[in-house]
This record gives sequence, C-alpha cells and structure tokens, in this order.
Amino acid sequence: MALVPEFNASSPERERRDTALAESEARYRALVRASSSLVWTSAADGQIVDMPEWRALTGQTVDEVRGWGWLNSLHPDDRARTGVVWQAAIDARSYYETEYRIRRWDGQYVWHQARGVAVFEDDGSIREWVGICVDIEDRKRASQQQIEAEKALRALNDTLEQRVEAQARERARIWHVSQDMLVVADTEGRYLNVNPAWTATLGWSESDLVGNTSGWLLHPDDQEKTHAELAQLAEGHRTLRFESRLRHKSGSYRWLSWTAVPDRGLVYAVARDITEIRIAEEQLRAARRELAAVSRQTMMGEMTASIAHEISQPLTAIVANAYAGSQWLNRAEPEIDAVREILKQIGNEANRASEVIASTRSMFGKGRSEMSAVSVTTILGNVLVLVNDEFERHHISVKNETLCELPQVMAERVQLQQVFLNLFMNAIDAMSSVTDRARVLTIKSRLGENDGVLITLEDSGIGIDASHLDCIFDAFFTTKADGMGMGLSICRSIIESHGGQLSAKPGDLHGTVFQIVLPTAPLPL
Ligand SMILES: Nc1ncnc2c1ncn2[C@@H]1O[C@H](COP(=O)(O)OP(=O)(O)OP(=O)(O)O)[C@@H](O)[C@H]1O
Ligand SMILES: [Mg+2]
Repeated sequence: MALVPEFNASSPERERRDTALAESEARYRALVRASSSLVWTSAADGQIVDMPEWRALTGQTVDEVRGWGWLNSLHPDDRARTGVVWQAAIDARSYYETEYRIRRWDGQYVWHQARGVAVFEDDGSIREWVGICVDIEDRKRASQQQIEAEKALRALNDTLEQRVEAQARERARIWHVSQDMLVVADTEGRYLNVNPAWTATLGWSESDLVGNTSGWLLHPDDQEKTHAELAQLAEGHRTLRFESRLRHKSGSYRWLSWTAVPDRGLVYAVARDITEIRIAEEQLRAARRELAAVSRQTMMGEMTASIAHEISQPLTAIVANAYAGSQWLNRAEPEIDAVREILKQIGNEANRASEVIASTRSMFGKGRSEMSAVSVTTILGNVLVLVNDEFERHHISVKNETLCELPQVMAERVQLQQVFLNLFMNAIDAMSSVTDRARVLTIKSRLGENDGVLITLEDSGIGIDASHLDCIFDAFFTTKADGMGMGLSICRSIIESHGGQLSAKPGDLHGTVFQIVLPTAPLPL
C-alpha cells in the first residue's frame, strides 16, 4: 500500500509537493526501520492494500494481508479484540493503539504495539491511515517477568504469613497445653505472663499472679536463694537447675524445678512440679537409712551373739575347771597333779577366749583388707557426691579445700569411704539442729609431720560435751535417741588398722574438728 495516494490532477506545484512527500516518506521509513519498527498505511476505510514490512515479518502474501487478512497472522486470542479496536478507531476517526502478538514467519509469536493516526485532507475527510508497529517483546517479557516475580513474592509472603500464623498457633497451643509452668517475667521477678499450668499446679488464677513477683508465694527458706538466682539471671546467666517451693492456694507448698533464660531484659522460665518426686525420694532415703540401721543392728546383733557364744564356751570351761580344781585342793590330801592339769586346761581355755577376741578385732583390721595406693582427695570427693543430697536437704554448705597434689596413702578404698561417710553423717546430725549460725562443713587436707597426710573436718554443729570427749570413740557410746554408738568406734579401728590416727577436739568457736592422719604410700620403685 502506498503511503501517498495517487492524484489524478497534476500540476508543477503538485509534482513538487509529491516529490517532497515521497522524500519525506522515505526519510520517515528509514527512520522507523532504524528503530526496528515497521510502518503501515491503510486506505481511509481501514482496508489494507499491502504492508511489505508486515509480509516480510509474517511470511504472508499480498493477498493474505489485504483487507482484514493481516489479522490472521495475529495470535488467535488477540484477533477479535484487535479487530474491534481497529474498527472503533476507524469509526471514531481517532487515534488507534493496541498491543497484539504477531506470528512471525518462523511460527514464533512476538508482542508488538500498533499505533496509527488518520491523515486528513484539507476538507476534513480522511486521506489515509498511517501507523507503526513496534516490537515490544523485550518490554513485555520484562514486565511479564516482573509480574511473575511479584506473583512469586506475593505467594512467598502468603506462605510466610501462613507459616508464621501456623507457628504462632502451635506456640499458643504449647503454651496452653503444657503441663510445665511457663512464665515470662521481668528481671525483678515480676510475672508478666503465665500459662494455664500455673492455675492447674498452684490453684492461683492468672490475675492473682500477673503483675506480682513470687515473693508472697515463696517458701521463707527459699527467698534468699531465689533473689540470688534472679540477680544471676539479670546479669545474663542461665538457670539450669534450681529448686524452690511455691505456696499452693490451699496453703501447702509445691516443689518446683526451674530452668530460665534471660533475653532482652526479660526472663523466660519453665518450672516443673517435682513435689511427688521429692516425696518419693524422701521416702526412699528414709527407707535406705532405716535399712542401713537395721542391717547394722542385725549385723551387730549376730556378731555379738556369736562372740558371746564363742567366749562363753571357754569361760564356762574355766569356771567348771576352777571349781573342780578347788575341790581337788579341798581334799584331805590335795591332788596336786590333778590341780596342775586343771590349771593347764584353764590356761588353754583362757587363751581360746583371747583368740576369739583377737579374731573379732581383726574383722576391722588389716587381715581382710585389700590395700592399694589411693588418693584421699578422690575418695573424699566420691563420698561427697554420695551425700550431697543430704547436705542440701539440711541446708549445709560444704567447703572442700582439699589439695589435689597430696601424696597417695595405702588404704582399702571401701573402708576409707566408710570412715568419711560416718564422719559426714555425724556432722549432719550435729548441725541439723543449729539455727543461729551458718551450717558449714569445712574439709581441709595437708601434708602432716612424718610425711603423713592430714585431713580435718570441721563442722559448725552443737559440739561435743567436754566430759564426753574421752568416750565418743567407745563402742556403743551414743547421745542420740536412735544412735548405735558404733560409727566412731568403727572409724577409729579402720584408721588405726591403716597405721593412722583419728582424734576429735572442740572447734574454735563452736562445733567439732575431727582429724585423721594417714601414712603416705611408699613411692613406686
Ligand atoms: N560431729 C560431731 N559433733 C558433735 N558430736 C558428735 C559428732 N560426732 C560424734 N559425736 C558424738 O559422738 C557420739 C558417738 O558417735 P558415733 O558415730 O560413734 O555414734 P552415733 O552417731 O551416736 O550412732 P551411730 O552408730 O548410728 O553412728 C555421738 O552420739 C555424738 O554424741
Ligand atoms: Mg554416727
């Protein structure tokens, strides 16, 4: 299709104008081509006569392009819409603009933007339409990519939102169903948020608790250590194992085991009700003590019976022989030979009795033991671990100042453990009634004279009456209602069987100091 319509009339003036127009059109086409657009023209009624650049792009023939045929090389989805827009522009004699996909000669669809304007004659009629098609594939693709990216972003936001919501729901569920007591507090211990487990465990409602500190609920004995623990948390330390008692609405106390973490000025804590476990532990401990006491009594009873039996036999024989001997002597003619024989038998029986006694002593002596070089510090440490619970239960703090680099001693491990255990139990007994001062057990060790190792245990207990100092190591001496009075006597015989000494003296201010000296083990060759 020619951009410039043909004119029937010709004049020099017109020829000049036509030439100028043709030149202008050529310039214009060159310009448009340079910008990778294609130029089109149509008749006044919108019918296409030819579009060479269009044909070159689409592979359509002139016949195929003609009229509205060019629409056939558009994407099927764009055809009807484009036809409507084009017709509307023709009808309105107005600016035409639309976007569509042109099927290129190679079958590829390429987005184009078509724009056109009517060219008017002087009398106001339309001479023709002229327009361009611009390849906007890149722009479309970019905007499509942008749309897709935005869609993906929206989808991501949605899933994120859903995930956050789901997590929040899960957390809320955990908060509500947890059997453990969860609390958010400030660093002064004021409760900001508590979960329903609080009400289930302690009976108090949420409004009783939130806004208050635990002060009014805490067992008086736990106040001090709770404040100390809170101060630690405020300094950024975690609480890993802490136990305290809080008052139930009914007035009883529940034992709670806490873990807590400080974070950005708040404390997040979890407490588990361990009251039942505590009671069970207490019962177990009591049962164990009872069992130990019973078995010791049984053992002592059996031992005493067998010793009595063993000794009573020679004693009975001695008494009988002494009686017989005196009978022989009382005769008118004393039978000296018979008396001599009887005195010999009495001597034998007495020896048997003293053998029994000696063998009893050896039960606590060297005879049965398996000695080896051991570290007193390690043995002490092991026993401390065993009785740690007992110390805690009686609010006794243990200051272990023993030295690691002490030389080893020759000892039977189990017996030495027994000694420390007995001394610890006595110290606990002596301190558990003390209320006007701290309950402290201080353990020290050092190298004594003659290369011995010296261990001292100093308690802040009730002390030993001066008149009792001499007899506390005697078997069966006790000042306790349920005591056997065997602990110290066993301790002393064990220490002495190790070639050492065990002694006691009053503490400087109060309490008692027990001192053990043990010879060091010879150095290995
Ligand atoms: N650390 C101590 N402080 C004050 N008194 C003590 C201490 N250790 C022992 N005693 C006194 O010595 C006595 C004897 O102690 P020992 O350990 O031999 O027997 P017990 O503790 O009474 O009974 P058990 O045979 O059950 O140990 C005690 O009853 C007590 O009066
Ligand atoms: Mg004792």
